[in-house]
Amino acid sequence: MGEDDKTEFKNKIVIAIDGFSSTGKSTIAKLLAKQLNYIYVDTGAMYRAVTYFALDHSLIGEDFFHSQQLIEKLDNVNITFKFNEELGFAEVYLNGQNIEKAIRTLEVSRYVSLVSTISEVRQKLVEQQQIMGKNKGIVMDGRDIGTVVFPDAELKVFMTASAETRAKRRYKELLERGHSLSYNEVLENVTTRDRIDSTREDSPLLKAKDAIEIDNSDLTIESQVETLLKLAKTIA
Ligand code: DC
Repeated sequence: MGEDDKTEFKNKIVIAIDGFSSTGKSTIAKLLAKQLNYIYVDTGAMYRAVTYFALDHSLIGEDFFHSQQLIEKLDNVNITFKFNEELGFAEVYLNGQNIEKAIRTLEVSRYVSLVSTISEVRQKLVEQQQIMGKNKGIVMDGRDIGTVVFPDAELKVFMTASAETRAKRRYKELLERGHSLSYNEVLENVTTRDRIDSTREDSPLLKAKDAIEIDNSDLTIESQVETLLKLAKTIA
């Protein structure tokens, strides 16, 4: 689709995309936002940024998590996004430092679900997310967008795919980025994160009652974007 094919709707809406790890939420959300001329926000990147901060300050590791110290330091965690024209999306910054690449490692993935169980962390990030979406015209992806961040979002999507399909996608992506790891490590990370994200007490990953569920195991990216654009058109 060319630049001129952008879809303009009369009313700006909020599109909430939730789902399990590595379901391709961000790929779809980015394309959808581009097509609609909307802002795209990757909330997973925000939880990853806090995890990066915790690792950097030795607050979390193999057998320890100083969660109280992390809570006390949260005022020193300043997360911002800056649009990168070349990449076509906003990269995440922690206290002014571009950490877009640094947060995509398996190490950050290993600890992010644990950090995301902390209510004080969630409260801080949810507040920031709600401010970013207050003027609508936004596509936001995460785990609690349709349930907690924007319970009144006009369009809610819940993405699923089998754990194996998701691990294969993620494994390929990480190899392409030059990481060396095994498929089993990735599968283990995906299933562990699913379990922690779905069972935590504060804002667990849940399908909102009014969300449309899409199992994209056998769907192309193009067909998913097309379906969601059509849905958005019926609402906006
Ligand atoms: O989307 P992602 O895989 O980059 O997200 C990383 C982790 O962040 C995910 O395993 C759980 C957490 N997360 C969350 O708890 N709530 C969100 N809205 C987004 C992500």
